[in-house]
Amino acid sequence: MKFGHFNDATREYVITEPKTPYPWINYLGNKDFFGLISNTSGGYYFYKDARLLRLTRYRYNNVPTDDGGIYFYINENGNVFNPGWKPCKADYEEYECRHGLGYSVISSKVNGLRAEQTSFVPLDTTASVHRIKLTNESDQEKTFTLFSLVEFCLWDANDDTTNFQRNFSTGEVEVIGSTIYHKTEYRERRNHYAVFSCNEEIDGFDTDRETFIGLYNSFADPDAVLENKSRNSLASGWSPIGSHSKVITLKPGETKSLVFVLGYCENPQDDKWEAQDVINKKPANELLAKFKTDEQVESALAELKAYWTNLLSTYSVKSSDEKLDRMVNIWNQYQCMVTFNMSRSASYFESGIGRGMGFRDSSQDLLGFIHLIPERARERILDIAATQMEDGSAYHQYQPLTKKGNNDIGSGFNDDPLWLIFGVAAYIKETGDWSILDEMVPFDNDESKADTLLVHLKRSFDHVTNNLGPHKLPLIGRADWNDCLNLNCFSENPGESFQTFGPSEGPVAESVFIAGMFVAVGPDYIRMCEQKGLLDEAKAAAAAVEDMTQAVLTAGWDGEWFVRAYDAYSNKIGSKECEEGKIFIEPQGFCVMAGIGVEDGRALKALESVEKYLDTKYGIVLNSPSYTRYHLELGEISSYPPGYKENGGIFCHNNPWVSIAETVVGRGNRAFEVYKKTCPAYLEEISEVHRTEPYVYSQMIAGRDAKNHGEAKNSWLTGTAAWTFYNVSRFILGVKPDYDGLVVDPCLPDDITEFTVTRKFRGDTFNITVDNTAKAQKGVAKLIVDGQEVPFGPIATIGDKVREVKVIMG
Ligand code: BGC
Ligand code: NOJ
Repeated sequence: MKFGHFNDATREYVITEPKTPYPWINYLGNKDFFGLISNTSGGYYFYKDARLLRLTRYRYNNVPTDDGGIYFYINENGNVFNPGWKPCKADYEEYECRHGLGYSVISSKVNGLRAEQTSFVPLDTTASVHRIKLTNESDQEKTFTLFSLVEFCLWDANDDTTNFQRNFSTGEVEVIGSTIYHKTEYRERRNHYAVFSCNEEIDGFDTDRETFIGLYNSFADPDAVLENKSRNSLASGWSPIGSHSKVITLKPGETKSLVFVLGYCENPQDDKWEAQDVINKKPANELLAKFKTDEQVESALAELKAYWTNLLSTYSVKSSDEKLDRMVNIWNQYQCMVTFNMSRSASYFESGIGRGMGFRDSSQDLLGFIHLIPERARERILDIAATQMEDGSAYHQYQPLTKKGNNDIGSGFNDDPLWLIFGVAAYIKETGDWSILDEMVPFDNDESKADTLLVHLKRSFDHVTNNLGPHKLPLIGRADWNDCLNLNCFSENPGESFQTFGPSEGPVAESVFIAGMFVAVGPDYIRMCEQKGLLDEAKAAAAAVEDMTQAVLTAGWDGEWFVRAYDAYSNKIGSKECEEGKIFIEPQGFCVMAGIGVEDGRALKALESVEKYLDTKYGIVLNSPSYTRYHLELGEISSYPPGYKENGGIFCHNNPWVSIAETVVGRGNRAFEVYKKTCPAYLEEISEVHRTEPYVYSQMIAGRDAKNHGEAKNSWLTGTAAWTFYNVSRFILGVKPDYDGLVVDPCLPDDITEFTVTRKFRGDTFNITVDNTAKAQKGVAKLIVDGQEVPFGPIATIGDKVREVKVIMG
């Protein structure tokens, strides 16, 4: 069942039923100011850091679900409704929510009155704009009151939901004209405040929640709205809100727009006040002046759309498969921007107070983002590298605001360091900017311990070889990519963090997955050393990679597939010897991607085993059979009921690893089949089963051992976005940036016989046509560049030229 449809021309998903199977959300903001907005206008807003600088309050896992957001109420003679249906849930004549790239337009029509809310964060602005357009579509004059509502968060979202004995006494506001200033804690150590403003003269306002809503009422029936009268309340402690009201009369056919701005303002420390207790409003005035008129709002929205048109023009495909095209050209890239911005911090499944930026997560997010804004990727790489320790290990997470490593979780996830090499390699391949390797970057954020980025990468690489176990495989530490394989933990008490409980350096637990990663990333590290003239280092690295390959082929091979790991007792995990968890997806994907066993057929065997033992109609499960009881020596993985999350769930993130691996062995049909199974656009028709948004990937789809097989959770913030884009753009469609130019080497299913890709790359624009009438799956028979047949290999760039590339497969 569908709850809307794609509009590819406008790059929107159009939701036509407010009761979606789960709130279907969108993100507003590209850089510093962000909002999460659901199809009923639920959600919240923050500046830079969802935990530390949150502007509005949101209650996760609330009843009813998704209550709280930015709400507009219309009261016409006692009939109250909202453009987004919630919270009043009035009967509507029409409802629609269009989620676009960085904006959402939510509208409904009730009793002949159309109310349309357009919400977005303009470029380079620390505010969200909400334009309300009201149209009288009836044949009678209408008079009604429009109310706005936001509930302010007292900045630190964690404190805001826990420290009520203090918080109920700190709230402060100022109201001047149509602008409400939320200034809690401004008198003490903060130099920032929030504004919520209307561009027109208002008839009333409220800033005290209890006065506006009533202690025993809810968002659905606020006293002030029901009685059609603002109270002009001034909050003092308790819960400050922002609400405006305006009485509007519209003749039949008449339209009126109002602009509401919710923004973040900062003052210099020595210029905080206009007078005693009166905040300096200069930054707010400057901000609000930019969005005073409908024309200003229209042009800011047009700029945002143009910005996206330009970004997305870097990579676009035209094929016979419209679902493929819409994912590649629009939604997958859009999600990559969101994961780049948010890492794993703020979504409808990540509370914004738990995790900041993940070292591993953000490094992988780069893979899907670098082509969009390489300069921001460069900055991010340097931020991430600055949280690395001198011995090559890394803080697992850091806070976006402070950019400092998070001590609570610490380090010891032994895959982390290698992801940095992945990210840097992708950056250099995209840009050709080798100078990044010479950047001086601190260790542990300590400038006195700075060294070049290349030295950081060496420490990453050596961290693996310096920490090998009895089988010459990498020690796993606290965990590798699979955060839930906690082989050194042995936690027996509820409430202990599986991941940080126990030592991070187990004596013997080893990871075949990290071994595969090491071999996969080895050639990049070697190439970087060569480029910098470090030939001995390159040679030593090549030898280490060869040793690791041999270790995988011996201790890491189980006969039909690659072993997953060795536990603290040196027992195999992911082996036919095991009772449960006999086979895992991760080493099959990564070892084959690394090229291990390709020559002797083991790679193909491993992929056949994936198909035989792990495949389902909704995607490939992480392991099989799922663990049915808690294994002390394995940790969190066995804490999940069978079929969920890392225990036999379809963990979407590593499905593209298998798809890429399939392209390595040249099986284009299977690679595309794997791609399609978890791809949201192909699941749109079964939205009632899948439940999360049909335009973005989710982290997990319940596996075949779970009751709700096929049900997805944790949409948006997942490495799946970057990995799938990486897969489909570079391996399936085959347009791959490399150190010396652009390589075109597709791996296709038989039913894609032709496509074109436009790729902007290092100044050139490549118009690439691929002819697969031979149904070759893999292999380039002819490469014609600018009319000349050339040998297969990287196509060097010229700079600022349009290039014509024709590839004939065969
Ligand atoms: C989840 C993992 C996640 C980890 C982060 C675990 O509970 O299952 O998917 O990476 O938490 O800390
Ligand atoms: C989600 C985490 O964000 C990621 O870092 C991890 O690799 C996967 N879960 C698998 O556990």
